[in-house]
Amino acid sequence: MSYGNLLYVVDGGVATVTVNRPDKLNALNHQTLSELAHAFDAAKADDAVRAVVVTGSGEKAFVAGADIGELLEVAGQAEKAAELAAFGQGVFRRLEELGKPSVAMVNGFALGGGCELALACTLRTASTNARLGLPEVSLGIIPGYGGSQRLARIAGPGVAREWILTGDMFGAEEAHRVGVINRLFAPDELEEGTRKMVKSMLVKGPVALRFGMEAVLRGWDLDQAAGEQLETEYFGKASITEDMREGMAAFLEKRKPEFHGR
Ligand code: COA
Repeated sequence: MSYGNLLYVVDGGVATVTVNRPDKLNALNHQTLSELAHAFDAAKADDAVRAVVVTGSGEKAFVAGADIGELLEVAGQAEKAAELAAFGQGVFRRLEELGKPSVAMVNGFALGGGCELALACTLRTASTNARLGLPEVSLGIIPGYGGSQRLARIAGPGVAREWILTGDMFGAEEAHRVGVINRLFAPDELEEGTRKMVKSMLVKGPVALRFGMEAVLRGWDLDQAAGEQLETEYFGKASITEDMREGMAAFLEKRKPEFHGR
């Protein structure tokens, strides 16, 4: 598939979506967001794609935020600004609801909308020289692409308040410490380490992966009892799959399972 501001490559069951505006540190303008929406839909519809990696072009940035030039165009227009936020939120929700695991491979600055893009992925890896943050308050605005909600859910309201209210940039180690980054790698090991983690998921039952993701995603706003009810439903649904029989049989026969995703 060919895009103006993205690279989209499918290899070995993994779609890699690379935001490709390195001269603008991969800032997300309207065209890039539209292309991301298209790429996420393509990855969802393609049975050959079982996981997605999202990253940025160049040495310096994952994504340095929403395009500030475009943000300025909606200054003084509450409705237009709200529309812009809703549009970006919709794009990132598509990624979150892909039904396949996605990993943000954070290879540099992940600021503002870039940090929010990473937060919308199922998991996040980062190189030790990555820097993350939500600097919107420095521009007189707040995060608009779901960041205030996702960061609070992923790392807790204390961390979300600290990141959103200070607008500071945080090193990858700090982001890892507070649970924003799942796995940290030396810069020259980021790609390999991330791919290895993705591979470890690809050999698991695809339906189980989907149910596991949905149980967490749909459960995080529920109380414990309602969440357990949801878990029970997914557990029941998983137990009528062929994958369940295959997984158990393979264990008992001391061989590797061959899942078919049904
Ligand atoms: N929107 C639009 N353009 C951006 C951008 C953004 N969010 N982030 C970087 N760029 C552009 C710069 O304007 C510059 O373009 P130019 O060469 O045409 O002038 C280019 O990318 C390189 O950025 P530069 O600022 O020169 O790099 P740096 O190494 O000095 O600083 C950052 C890197 C990330 C610290 C700095 O670019 C920055 O603070 N970016 C904005 C981050 C932000 O506030 N994001 C949230 C937006 S809601």
